[in-house]
Amino acid sequence: MKNRVSLVGAAMLAGALSLGTLRAAEPDTHSPQIPASVLAKMEDPELAQSDYIEQCAGCHGVQGSSIPAHLPELKNRVGWFMCTPESRAYLLRLPNVAHSRLTDSRQLADLMNYVIFVLGGPSAPTGTKPFTGDEVAHERQFALTSVSLVAERLRLANVAIRKCHAPASLRLQFPGSVQ
Ligand code: HEC
Repeated sequence: MKNRVSLVGAAMLAGALSLGTLRAAEPDTHSPQIPASVLAKMEDPELAQSDYIEQCAGCHGVQGSSIPAHLPELKNRVGWFMCTPESRAYLLRLPNVAHSRLTDSRQLADLMNYVIFVLGGPSAPTGTKPFTGDEVAHERQFALTSVSLVAERLRLANVAIRKCHAPASLRLQFPGSVQ
């Protein structure tokens, strides 16, 4: 009897352990909830979310996190780049953004507002104005090349750290990365 009890106990423990491992191994593939306070920053929040999933999430992850891949982490930090007009422009001049197949710049502005205000969480400085279609249409003409990108990112991260009190880890691709 005692043996049977401990066997059952062991089986339950094994079950709990494998369930735990399974949970830990599965990435969270759910899109984040769009907070009510952010809904008004987009014309069509649902379309913005599905555009992000189709065009960006393959590299950046549905939640804006692709650790340990060497990509910049968007989750809870991309909003710091809204600090100055030139770092706002940087976001719209990124090759994958500027050359997006969304020809409607208002739709691309919505996608970027989703990235900043939903994935970026509270990282955009207080009072940050959402992107407009006109702003996107203008900046996307000046797409950065992969050569200028790394240096430009570092320069703008340093400005955001100095002017908007962004965390020093903004210089890195993601907190704790070595690049
Ligand atoms: C093929 C993979 C890939 C896709 C698709 C992609 N990106 Fe990126 N993204 C990158 C890489 C790599 C970087 C780092 C800079 C670079 O090399 O372009 C980056 C940088 C960024 C950054 C700058 C973040 C920072 O901290 O400097 C933002 C914002 C961004 N991407 C948004 C997007 C959006 C929005 C889309 C969809 C329209 C998108 N990306 C699609 C790979 C991708």
